[in-house]
Amino acid sequence: MTVRDTLRHIKRRLTGHRIFPILNFPNRAISTWLNYIWPTVRAWITWLFKSHEESNFTYALTERCQINFIAGLSGILNRSPDVIREYLSEIQDDADFRSHITDLLPTHPDRYRTDLEPHVGRRMVWYAVVRATKPKVVVETGVDQGMGAVVLCAALKRNASEGHPGRYFGTDINPLAGYFLKGAYAEFGKVLYGDSLKSLETLDKIDLFINDSDHSASYEQAEYELVKNKLTPRAIVLGDNSHVTSELAEFSMRHGRRFSFLPEEPANHWYKGAGIGISTSGVPSLGA
Ligand SMILES: C[S@@+](CC[C@H](N)C(=O)[O-])C[C@H]1O[C@@H](n2cnc3c(N)ncnc32)[C@H](O)[C@@H]1O
Repeated sequence: MTVRDTLRHIKRRLTGHRIFPILNFPNRAISTWLNYIWPTVRAWITWLFKSHEESNFTYALTERCQINFIAGLSGILNRSPDVIREYLSEIQDDADFRSHITDLLPTHPDRYRTDLEPHVGRRMVWYAVVRATKPKVVVETGVDQGMGAVVLCAALKRNASEGHPGRYFGTDINPLAGYFLKGAYAEFGKVLYGDSLKSLETLDKIDLFINDSDHSASYEQAEYELVKNKLTPRAIVLGDNSHVTSELAEFSMRHGRRFSFLPEEPANHWYKGAGIGISTSGVPSLGA
């Protein structure tokens, strides 16, 4: 029997004794620090010095996370995994999108709270949903700098070039929001400035609704309930707050909609990631 086997054997014998939690305390402290806490602290220290961001963090997503997105979306949207994979690659490899963002950064009024690398993160799912479902009207509440706005307009631009035109409406209470929504992308939509609930009242039919404004549960719920009667029969609702509240899940249950949640897994970042709540109407048809 090796020393390790002997220690394991002793440990097994001790686990039923009252003294075990005290004896095991140092082992638990060290192993959880090394395996879980330190990697996060190390990533946070690196980020403090390398990044300028203070909120609405951007980061790459792990390969595993993207495979989960592909498999999850494929089932939710009833499209083949290859088609979804292609859409996720399309936005990440889009040289026009990348240069649009990086060219605007040097003159960005908030450039010192923004990072140079334009990581789209979970917005790649928003992109794939627009590409797969060809919505005529896309609404995003909460625009901030406009990264999501440009991702969504990039998808609408591709859809239009394939004969499926659509419009983007963003809402934001900050009159300076939407800095990135310029040039070719601005041809596909605009930002409605003011309180989101007021702006949403001015809209009619919505095919894709994305909640990402005031992240209090009550405001999120109010947005969903306000747009409920504006949603077209096959409309999709995405919640960017579904890792924080259960509002979209509850809205879905109240109104007989299907709900799924796709979590993010950031690569080499201390932030645990957000997630995408996805609410679809009815039961998707079977078959590819
Ligand atoms: C998380 S950021 C949006 C991020 C953006 N969707 C993106 O893709 O980067 C939230 C935004 O919501 C806006 N906001 C907060 N409360 C709002 C309200 N009541 N009405 C409209 N916009 C609001 C903020 O000004 C902020 O720009």
